[in-house]
Amino acid sequence: MKKVLLVGTGDVGKHILEFVARDESNIEWVIGDVEEEKARWACNNAEIGAAHHGMHPKFKPIQVDLFDGEKTSELIQSEKPDAIINCTVLHTWHLIRQLPDGLYSKISSAGLGAWLPCQLALGLNLAKSIQDSGLSPYYINTSLSCLTNPVMGKVGLAPTIGIGNVDLIAPAVLTYVAQQKGIDRSRVETFQVCHHQHWVFPREAGYQPGAPYYLKILVDGEDVTSEFDTDQVMFESVKLYAPGIGFTTVSASSTLKNMKAMLFDENLRTHSPGPKGLPGGYPVLLNKSGAEVVLPDDITLDEAIKMNEQSGKLDSIEEVKADGTVIFTDYAYETMKDALGFDCKSFHAWDSKELAFEQMACFRKLAEKYIN
Ligand SMILES: NC(=O)c1ccc[n+]([C@@H]2O[C@H](COP(=O)([O-])OP(=O)(O)OC[C@H]3O[C@@H](n4cnc5c(N)ncnc54)[C@H](O)[C@@H]3O)[C@@H](O)[C@H]2O)c1
Repeated sequence: MKKVLLVGTGDVGKHILEFVARDESNIEWVIGDVEEEKARWACNNAEIGAAHHGMHPKFKPIQVDLFDGEKTSELIQSEKPDAIINCTVLHTWHLIRQLPDGLYSKISSAGLGAWLPCQLALGLNLAKSIQDSGLSPYYINTSLSCLTNPVMGKVGLAPTIGIGNVDLIAPAVLTYVAQQKGIDRSRVETFQVCHHQHWVFPREAGYQPGAPYYLKILVDGEDVTSEFDTDQVMFESVKLYAPGIGFTTVSASSTLKNMKAMLFDENLRTHSPGPKGLPGGYPVLLNKSGAEVVLPDDITLDEAIKMNEQSGKLDSIEEVKADGTVIFTDYAYETMKDALGFDCKSFHAWDSKELAFEQMACFRKLAEKYIN
């Protein structure tokens, strides 16, 4: 039987549990969180709900602090999971929405990448613990993988794959095209190169237009891209989702789909961000060997990477240097300094923990002032 270790039972982690509790796959699950009680309640809820479906899953909740690298490595060595899923984060993306509109809009305009220390620190520590364990499970990272996976890649710790982002947009494009043409969605296929930026641009305040992307639309295998205004397709497909955090069920499905494709060697052609530490999202093939980018003939991997690096500049990140140093864009730096009081133009991957705590302290000050 395959075994999976999932760490982080917040919004995304809980959705994953609820889904697997009700599905047929025969997987043993170990569920960790720094707050053991959260993990236990999430497991209980999923197990109890599954009873209504005639399913009787058994999850194992445990306490895991990803900042305790030694203990995490020992856990990996003793449990020997086939896959590890990171659903942890220090400060999740929607917390700034609690601030008054003007302040939220200002901070949002810095881009989510401006919070990279908070998004990176735990996933990076987990990657190191996996390496130190001497084992090689698939590592699926849910934390802003368009931007975090490339940083981990530069320090030799690239996760196998990310989730969501392009994989939120791609199924929405299938749905949009099917609706526009009045045909069954199963007849539609796409090849997409795009970035987290394309997901947030239509949804969150202050993002700039113009991020490059690649989109090819096929119906019954025939290229019908020219029938569409692709800018409109990209935008309107994202707009099919309600505002708010309801879409994270789709992120959970994306995670499970990627995990199963590798665990069960499905040779699945899908979309995903962050394969092998690449920036942004791509069409990929997933099987027991992990993730491989599979592009149509009219775009090269180099072109696709450049597109995603360009999009990353509209999502706060100017550059990730070869040694793992992250340079923020000028607008992200200035905005985070002015609106949040966080003064940092660049940082090394391994400074992310300290800087994340600094970012959270800055946010707490604003929260004390503006959030009841
Ligand atoms: N790509 C997508 O489609 C998509 C969608 C939504 C969220 N996300 C990302 O997924 C990640 C999780 O988001 P969320 O909204 O579920 O977050 P959340 O804040 O709801 O949950 C995070 C969990 O991490 C745990 N945690 C914190 N510190 C820890 C530590 N030291 N060790 C172990 N666990 C720890 C917390 O207790 C919490 O349960 C974020 O990085 C978020 O940006 C991605």
